Amino acid sequence: MAKVKSKWVCQNCGYETASYLGKCPDCGRFSTFVEEIIQEKSEVKSKNSSMNIGSTETFSYTKINEVKVDTSIRITSGMEEFDRVLGGGFVEGSLCLLAGDPGIGKSTLILQTAKNIASQNKKILYICAEESTSQVKLRAERLNANSENIYVTQQNCLEEIIKQIENLKPEFLVVDSIQSVFSAQILSSTGSVSQIRECTNILMRIAKQFNVTTVIIGHVTKEGNIAGPKVLEHMVDCVLNFEGEKYKTTRILRGIKNRFGAVSEVGVFNMEDIGLVEIKNPSELFLSDRENLTTSGSTVIATLEGTRCLLLEVQALTGSTPYPNPRRVARGIEYDRLLQILAVLEKRVGLNLSKSDVYINVIGGIDIVEPAADLGVALAVLTSARDTVINKDTVCLGEIGLNGEIRSVDNLEARLKEAYKLGFIRAVVPKINNKTIKERILKIGIQIFEVSKISDAIKIAILN
Ligand code: TYD
Ligand code: MG
Repeated sequence: MAKVKSKWVCQNCGYETASYLGKCPDCGRFSTFVEEIIQEKSEVKSKNSSMNIGSTETFSYTKINEVKVDTSIRITSGMEEFDRVLGGGFVEGSLCLLAGDPGIGKSTLILQTAKNIASQNKKILYICAEESTSQVKLRAERLNANSENIYVTQQNCLEEIIKQIENLKPEFLVVDSIQSVFSAQILSSTGSVSQIRECTNILMRIAKQFNVTTVIIGHVTKEGNIAGPKVLEHMVDCVLNFEGEKYKTTRILRGIKNRFGAVSEVGVFNMEDIGLVEIKNPSELFLSDRENLTTSGSTVIATLEGTRCLLLEVQALTGSTPYPNPRRVARGIEYDRLLQILAVLEKRVGLNLSKSDVYINVIGGIDIVEPAADLGVALAVLTSARDTVINKDTVCLGEIGLNGEIRSVDNLEARLKEAYKLGFIRAVVPKINNKTIKERILKIGIQIFEVSKISDAIKIAILN
């Protein structure tokens, strides 16, 4: 008997090697390698050809200026927050990956979307690969999604799923979840990188061939022993991350990749008894606990998430440490960014925190990735350390350079407009060099204090 050949595949990033490795040289994770059987190429080919997917016998090429592209046919999800992240709805025939931690609400979001699409008289096929149809039915009852246009089937085998698609010809397809689907042509186990990759590949072709708009749900796991959706990102048209804190009801839908629209847009939802409820003005929600709050270590910043501006509260807590090495905890901002800000505060302002723990928390569970929040973080730390407060009607914006200089931020006008709309009357901002922008900002009505150094910002923010 011929020897079965195998390879070792990192279940996090898909890196392949001939032998077991403890640490993946590509993504750096430990214990993620799983042995998978190498399939004979001819075997896969013959099986594939029998499926008749994407097998075009005739060659066809078109001049690029004659190619007709129609990304204008969009299917609305029925939720403004969702549509914005998609860039105006699902593009017909596209394949979208919805990724998130287990239990975050992916199935709920998609079932609500299915309900809205069904009400537009479109046929939906919901593949329940990990739950039973009765479980999905119970959820549908809760969400009031008992539509006659939604067809459910409990199926894990990709070849069977394809037959059902061919038979039903749905306009919208949901695969919940991709980790539970397997192709009979792949020898490795369900949920392995090879299975997920191949199933997604085939679903992508099916989406284009039958012009069925497809959403595949993928779990993100921290351990990496089940393949993460990371390996799929480059294949699909659109990647959406559904995020939220375990014990909070706020959920954030974030566009990571979008072939048909802008990325980094966010949609905000609240998980309630009746499903996910859109939050049209998240800043109000995130700042609501702040009313009448006058404790030290709290500032408000305005961050841009795609086209929308969000006002968020940054909290800091400092105190003498009982540990030999003081603790630095950053939730909502990058850890390295916090260390840099603390270093600048020590060197340029003389704030010594070498014997203090520093905790930072951005309220609302949003991760701020842009440096425009630096000034807000620095002032939160400083007010906590000195036990003073910043006027609660002030918003602070600016990137802090290593020399303690305050650098400009993008789209200051939009940020200040949003802040003013929410009742902030003062803003500490970097120097505005562009005359026309300055004129426009002055017209907003918010009082601006331009600063060029961290020490100036401290004087102004704390005295005013
Ligand atoms: P679910 O959509 O099953 O999560 P996922 O598919 O990402 O694993 O949702 C799981 C949680 O959502 C579950 O703990 C219950 C809660 N939930 C609500 O709070 N309200 C609802 O209307 C529904 C359907 C679920
Ligand atoms: Mg689910």
